[in-house]
Amino acid sequence: MILMITGTRTGIGKALAEHFLEVGHDVVGCSRRPSTIDHPRYRHHEADLADLGQTKRMFRSVRQEYGKLDALVNNAGTSSMNHFLTTPDEVSRKIFDINFFAVLNCCREAVKLLRKSTEQTSAILNVSTVAVPWAIEGQLAYSASKSAVEQLVRVMSKELSTFGIRVNGIGLPPVHTMLTRTVPRPKIDTLIARQAISRQCTTADIVGPVEFLIGRQSEFITGETLFLGGVH
Ligand SMILES: NC(=O)c1ccc[n+]([C@@H]2O[C@H](COP(=O)([O-])OP(=O)(O)OC[C@H]3O[C@@H](n4cnc5c(N)ncnc54)[C@H](OP(=O)(O)O)[C@@H]3O)[C@@H](O)[C@H]2O)c1
Repeated sequence: MILMITGTRTGIGKALAEHFLEVGHDVVGCSRRPSTIDHPRYRHHEADLADLGQTKRMFRSVRQEYGKLDALVNNAGTSSMNHFLTTPDEVSRKIFDINFFAVLNCCREAVKLLRKSTEQTSAILNVSTVAVPWAIEGQLAYSASKSAVEQLVRVMSKELSTFGIRVNGIGLPPVHTMLTRTVPRPKIDTLIARQAISRQCTTADIVGPVEFLIGRQSEFITGETLFLGGVH
């Protein structure tokens, strides 16, 4: 398979890219800063997904190199944890630009390549968070942007079904990455205590469900966001 995973420089995206390379797939990744992965089947694009021109250039180059994609994992994301009263307008807009509009733009560009997939079905997978079902205070713009992504999953799954493209989401509890490094430990522990499986989610817990949701075993599943850790 040829997979595109966004946000592969660090964290969950990097762990996913390394896993799929290890099991023999070709991986195209991206981030604003240079790659931290060195592998013969890995291609990195330095692109800011908040910029539509850069996004289109990246997909054009993927088309020239591979001619198709079998799966797109929209992983790149950002957050800012603050009371909404003290969150400046530009911060909220930046969160929506990356977490929602960049996902929408990547999906639109990727469809042209996913339609050329030779797999039985091709797939888009988006990343959501427990901040949506738990409506966590201090994460208004972040959770609202991911809530929009979950709605995108539902609507897009219908709009793309005629092209044989499935669209799903994965909902994550707290994972130790750059994104969560400034969240105080007691706050993380309180969230973990709310999970049915009350230990911290790791990248190793995520790769299996991602592999399932973009692979043939889930070819009759679309429009769903699967939450890990027992969060409802
Ligand atoms: N960690 C958690 O607890 C948690 C929980 C629920 C959901 N999630 C979601 O999981 C996803 C991955 O997060 P993470 O925890 O792995 O965070 P992370 O370590 O901060 O990784 C984010 C990645 O996205 C890239 N990125 C950020 N903005 C970008 C942009 N404008 N254009 C291109 N690439 C960009 C970053 O690289 P550059 O800085 O070089 O651009 C980095 O590689 C996010 O969607 C996040 O919302 C995380």
